[in-house]
Amino acid sequence: MIISGTSGAGKSIRIVEIERNIIREGGTVIAFDINGTHEKVEGEIYNYISAQRDGLNVKLLDTSLVQNGQETMTNLLEYVMTILCPRQLRGAVQQNAVREALKFAIRNQKNFSTEMEAIAEGLNVQDSTEAKGAYRHLCDILEGNIFRCSEKQIIERRLNIISLKGINPKTQKRIIEIFLGVYWKMLRTNENNLKKCTLVIDEFQNLAFETNTVLFQMLTEARKYKLQLILATQTLTVFSKKQLAVINQAAVKLFFQPNVVDIRQIADFIEPGKKENWFAKLRDLKIGQAITVGELEINGHPKSQPIVTYSDYQSKKAAQPPNLPHNIGG
Ligand SMILES: Nc1ncnc2c1ncn2[C@@H]1O[C@H](COP(=O)(O)OP(=O)(O)OP(=O)(O)O)[C@@H](O)[C@H]1O
Ligand SMILES: [Mg+2]
Repeated sequence: MIISGTSGAGKSIRIVEIERNIIREGGTVIAFDINGTHEKVEGEIYNYISAQRDGLNVKLLDTSLVQNGQETMTNLLEYVMTILCPRQLRGAVQQNAVREALKFAIRNQKNFSTEMEAIAEGLNVQDSTEAKGAYRHLCDILEGNIFRCSEKQIIERRLNIISLKGINPKTQKRIIEIFLGVYWKMLRTNENNLKKCTLVIDEFQNLAFETNTVLFQMLTEARKYKLQLILATQTLTVFSKKQLAVINQAAVKLFFQPNVVDIRQIADFIEPGKKENWFAKLRDLKIGQAITVGELEINGHPKSQPIVTYSDYQSKKAAQPPNLPHNIGG
């Protein structure tokens, strides 16, 4: 599901409603909360994990597949390299230093309390300019002490909110990308017990989303792995043609009030032949309303035409209105 709309259009309010519906239907949600802006949710459906305070249980250097012959060490190293190394870390010699550090970390894991400490030491012991250069690119992750043993786990059938509050924006991005990389591998190697998870990422335009990035792969192959993704963005104009084509494959798209500069492009995106029609509809959307396109069903009946959906947010606080066909979710 792709959600777009300008600031204040109603994306976050709708997202939390969709999340509640998913939980009600027995699903599990993992939502990344970049700056503590996720709508507050009360009650026991909620599992709050602060990346900084609680840490995140993410294992990059898991050699179990190598040990039982399902994966080669080269493959494991390649995979860790792609998710750990940011785009800036391109030079072959620096990358090689990271690869050596990873081998060191795998060999010496048990002497360190976290994987990142082991990798950092693996770079330090090389004592070369390349290793120092690589360290500089990775230091926020290596020293951030985010990926560590944590008492807080993702809980099934809950709305798990991973808060990245208090972490600088560049590192927040890297943390989400690494989390997604590990999650994506678990899905593809089938040893993941969180299979029915829905991942929710607000402001996803800030994440690396070029060809070959994890997010790009996730969007392209989500169906194959039964991955549920909800991605929200304030704007679609930042994306390339190729990225828009992948975004367009999403099963459901919700277009809230766009930014004025985006309106034409989005009208064209909804239905190229009827641009003028959608232009007028987009312009007239009220807060909370979204033109909803894709594989829709209302009370069990498929609906092929785009519709305007709306959630009655104000009165919902008092009581849940029964059987309104407005709620898209689950
Ligand atoms: N369905 C709705 N009915 C009535 N009011 C709404 C509805 N949805 C949102 N609002 C109002 O609009 C405000 C902004 O909504 P929301 O936080 O969801 O915007 P947003 O699209 O997430 O913006 P941003 O991109 O800045 O995060 C809410 O605080 C609420 O007051
Ligand atoms: Mg929001």
